[in-house]
Amino acid sequence: EKDGHDWFMRKEIFEQPRAVADSLLGRHARNGLLQLDEMRLSDQELRDIDKIIIIACGTSFYAGLVAKYAIEHWTRVPVEVELASEFRYRDPILDYSTLVVAISQSGETADTLQAIRHARLQRSKVLAICNTNGSTIPRESDAVIYTHAGPEIGVASTKGFLTQLVACYLLALYLAQVKGTRYGDEISEIMHQLEAVPDQIASVLSRSDEVYELARSHVGTRSVLFLGRHAGYPVALEGALKLKELAYIHAEGFAAGELKHGPIALVEEGLPVLCVVPPRGRDQLHEKMISGIQEVRARGARTICLAEEGDTSIEPYADHLIRLPKVPVLLQPLVAVVPLQLFACELATAMGHDVDQPRNLAKSVTVE
Ligand code: F6R
Repeated sequence: EKDGHDWFMRKEIFEQPRAVADSLLGRHARNGLLQLDEMRLSDQELRDIDKIIIIACGTSFYAGLVAKYAIEHWTRVPVEVELASEFRYRDPILDYSTLVVAISQSGETADTLQAIRHARLQRSKVLAICNTNGSTIPRESDAVIYTHAGPEIGVASTKGFLTQLVACYLLALYLAQVKGTRYGDEISEIMHQLEAVPDQIASVLSRSDEVYELARSHVGTRSVLFLGRHAGYPVALEGALKLKELAYIHAEGFAAGELKHGPIALVEEGLPVLCVVPPRGRDQLHEKMISGIQEVRARGARTICLAEEGDTSIEPYADHLIRLPKVPVLLQPLVAVVPLQLFACELATAMGHDVDQPRNLAKSVTVE
């Protein structure tokens, strides 16, 4: 049942190329247009949307943070991302032109369910991104985009997260198509880049031994920091969450630009800092990330850098380098999170923990 793996989680990590491919299947029509069959909102309803609020918990919340970058960039519709457990209590501003997007792998998370009930009472449309057919959240939503990860059994979400990202990109591109904020050939080009991702994830997985060895050398580590920028920032948060929940190690993710505003005080000799390096591009993200890495290293941190193939500028500042396939910055989370999942899974295994059933956690959290 675990396909020869020791844990469901590890099996599910290795299923990710297929899960991503399945979640893309049938979305890109021959005429180049995107189609979302379960999108029960009309084009007119979508054109009327002037604000999006994404609500979710945990790993699904981090998928929402990535979605914000993609949706705002491609559609110019403002996006807020909110923890479901906080949403109702701040008296959010909602009306019929607000689209609330609820992201939930299980479709049963109580905090998320209560949040969408609140949104619907305020006349907002609710779209669910969900992996579980017929579960409560999609049943109580106006529309749904199903992810096709297959059942996720390990308590820690892996393929669920990747397929949520895919659904978020599809939603963003579909909205761009309907609202006309992006041209068809640009949308097609991004779809082709997405369609190349399953093979790219497979290539990351083919080098898992290297990550495992690194993970095993961290048994006994008490604290790990994760840094990222732009879409790599939520990846840093997700890498830290995986380590907390599986290895019970103190881990924190930061936006690299925030370091100097406080967290850099945590850096001491030998502290492992995992850095998600953005692809080199026209913006200054890459250079700024490198300077952040230099700063922590100058203070004794041991830097583990995830950087795209061919990026040699990172070499002098990386104590350990994990190569990522070349993808645009907005899609980079799909490949960058994979080594972080492998790292947490292997380190927890080496520490003797039950990876599939971490202490104090349940697969679906049906209490608020
Ligand atoms: C972390 C994890 C949790 C869930 C969260 C939301 O690995 O699995 O943080 O992501 O409890 O669950 P869903 O997506 O089912 O609403």
